[in-house]
Amino acid sequence: APSDPDLVERARAAKEQLGDRVFVLGHHYQRDEVIQFADVTGDSFKLAREAAARPQAEFIVFCGVHFMAESADILTSDAQQVVLPDLAAGCSMADMATAEQVAECWDVLTEAGVAETTVPVSYMNSSADIKAFTGRHGGTICTSSNAKRALDWAFEQGAPRQNKVLFLPDQHLGRNTAVRDLGMSLDDCVVYNPHKPGGGLTAEQLRAAKMILWRGHCSVHGRFSLDSVRDVRERIPGVNVLVHPECKHEVVSAADQVGSTEFIIKALDAAPAGSKWAIGTELNLVRRLALAHPDKEIVFLDRTVCFCSTMNRIDLPHLVWALESLAAGRTVNRIQVDPETEKFAKLALERMLALP
Ligand code: 13P
Ligand code: SF4
Repeated sequence: APSDPDLVERARAAKEQLGDRVFVLGHHYQRDEVIQFADVTGDSFKLAREAAARPQAEFIVFCGVHFMAESADILTSDAQQVVLPDLAAGCSMADMATAEQVAECWDVLTEAGVAETTVPVSYMNSSADIKAFTGRHGGTICTSSNAKRALDWAFEQGAPRQNKVLFLPDQHLGRNTAVRDLGMSLDDCVVYNPHKPGGGLTAEQLRAAKMILWRGHCSVHGRFSLDSVRDVRERIPGVNVLVHPECKHEVVSAADQVGSTEFIIKALDAAPAGSKWAIGTELNLVRRLALAHPDKEIVFLDRTVCFCSTMNRIDLPHLVWALESLAAGRTVNRIQVDPETEKFAKLALERMLALP
């Protein structure tokens, strides 16, 4: 639906009034009505870098989800204020790993005698607490665009000892990267279930594993199945299936290409006219791509469509409210990570930014 012209005008006016004092970041999954006001759009990695590269902006308005705004707060100076237009914009995957659960997991690994040779690698889609845990234990953060480099780095840390990675919280990104990019077998990976005693694993299983995958997943990408891929290949002969690495391993294995949201956008920019694409990622992005490329056939990978409900929480009314409040001298919905957490989370994030 077209945006309310009144609200569009109000957002534009508030932004103009704030001028260089505000910088608006927009993740690719954001609604059209919001993304039109982003000074920069990007995937999680690009947005983290963009936030860190704006020291002159007094306010960073983050149109994305909570963990992204936390990361932006960690990577910006204390004087800068990061605002999330709706505090209910969380991420169900990030919520699947709590600080208590991860501390308990580390105890389990310690008891099995493997903690010493394990390096944690945490997906950006995690709370600042989990990032701090990662930093404290010598690990790094990764996103879907640098997961291979992060795992390569982590496995080099223990050399020449045979080391392991504890991958949090997305089992699919962890498994897909280990198997597809590092050439491991599925048997090298075990899944740690935080809801079972000992993670549901024996000490022998932990000792034998190379990748200990946290049992988390994205509910949006989890909806794509092998059947969705088979079905679209039947419906659209010659279709290229392009999916996000948060999809299940069987889906990624059946796809033609895999990559982050930024990768998906670039792949379509480079695609020839007349080519056909089925995209396995969030719906706002797929719809925008279809509109931007009328010369190509672009469809959503599954027959039933699905938005990320928390990304969609950030709508134009919330953005207008945030911008108008800032323009009136009132900071609302500030995301502020406590200094102790920030110190170690920053260590982990900086390791990611320094990856080759
Ligand atoms: P990227 O934009 O980094 O590919 O991540 C997708 C995502 O799920 C963010 O929540
Ligand atoms: Fe979280 Fe999935 Fe939404 Fe990304 S798409 S914010 S991983 S729930």
